[in-house]
Amino acid sequence: MIVLGYVIQNLSSPTEKIHSAYALDAGQYVVSHGPASSAGTTRPTPMNTMEAARKVASIMATKQSEGYDRIVVPLVMAELPDGTTHRNLRQAVTDAHASGLTTEFTFPESAVEQFLAAVSNQSPAQPDPVTIGTAARVEDRDNALTLPDGEALVRPNGETYLPRDLGGHTDVAALRALRPADLYPLLAGEPGTGKTALADASFPDLIMMQCHGDMTVSSLVGTHLPTPDGGWVWHDGPLTRSMREGRPLCLDEVDKMPDEVSSVLHAAMDGRKTLQIDDRPDTEPVTAAEGFFVIAAYNPDSLGGKGLTEAMLSRFTVQIEVTTDYAAARSLGVPGDFVTIAENLTTKATEARAAGGRGVWAPQMRELLAAKRLIDAGLGATFAAGSMVAQCPWPEDLDEVLTVARQVTGTEVQPLRLGAQV
Ligand SMILES: Nc1ncnc2c1ncn2[C@@H]1O[C@H](COP(=O)(O)OP(=O)(O)O)[C@@H](O)[C@H]1O
Ligand SMILES: [Mg+2]
Repeated sequence: MIVLGYVIQNLSSPTEKIHSAYALDAGQYVVSHGPASSAGTTRPTPMNTMEAARKVASIMATKQSEGYDRIVVPLVMAELPDGTTHRNLRQAVTDAHASGLTTEFTFPESAVEQFLAAVSNQSPAQPDPVTIGTAARVEDRDNALTLPDGEALVRPNGETYLPRDLGGHTDVAALRALRPADLYPLLAGEPGTGKTALADASFPDLIMMQCHGDMTVSSLVGTHLPTPDGGWVWHDGPLTRSMREGRPLCLDEVDKMPDEVSSVLHAAMDGRKTLQIDDRPDTEPVTAAEGFFVIAAYNPDSLGGKGLTEAMLSRFTVQIEVTTDYAAARSLGVPGDFVTIAENLTTKATEARAAGGRGVWAPQMRELLAAKRLIDAGLGATFAAGSMVAQCPWPEDLDEVLTVARQVTGTEVQPLRLGAQV
């Protein structure tokens, strides 16, 4: 029996809901889908192959937009032993996928065509690489680094962090595994994509350091401060503290750090992990306690940034590109139109960059969440859309942004602007 199906999870749901859908070949295709391991809530309707494939793909797309964005089994086709009953089909698909008996489809663009081609051969090919939009996807959970069961990721500001896929692992688990190995990660991405969120969700004991062009070695290492009785007392800076206390240090906007300051980090991040404080020539060098770690973030396209020196780049062994997870934005309750505007602009930007251009600005997670908060605060969708497009940092991109916003919403969107007396 040939089956097309998937299994997805909604991790932001308190009960970690699972949804699955199948089309099974019983001479004719019938589609069934539902929330649990049972047969599903819809009565199977007989249909032809094309209808079945399209229907399963479209149910998956709908569910993903509702927040089911963790792929347990991607859209696959499996040849299952005849006699597999309808009731345990989800388990059968899961097992077939775990044992490599499935063919995966690129979702959603060409799934239907691929499915039809595969079905007409009647023999599932070997699994192909798969692209599933921006949804989190972990290929082989058996070998993946994951979070301890039931660990909820609450950031220091109280927000819940939705973990994402990072090279086949759960992002937070992967970053934590780098720490004892002294493999320092560098997060590269536009503002508002989730770099800081990932860093502080991963390490509750993180020390945050905002870098800027005027910072000095003292900003990192520490300084003598005057006391009321006319003396001086030494205060450790963030680097010194993180080394003494064995805590991770996050250098945000690390590319803004002047080169003469960043050179202080070199010895701290090398094998010996020591720091000689020039302002305290009388003291021993500080040696990093166990647990010391450095993680850095920057926006490679920022105007004020000057890039990283080769010496710095070479110390960050693991370089990670961070882009907004638009499926997560939907799970976090951002209205669909707003996410679609951002996705369409991102597609345009990708195309423009492929053609050698800079690429138009697109709203990232931060702007999308701000729009949602405006709506929640009672200001309405028009106001929220106006506020979102007003975040566009490049005046020359505004026309294109407004055009896409108009196409998606069907209404005129204008950047917020204070008007006449009311
Ligand atoms: N995986 C995620 N789960 C939940 N919220 C997220 C996630 N990624 C980003 N966010 C939210 O998006 C916004 C921007 O993220 P932030 O980490 O501040 O971006 P960056 O540091 O890249 O500028 C924050 O409000 C953050 O809470
Ligand atoms: Mg940040």
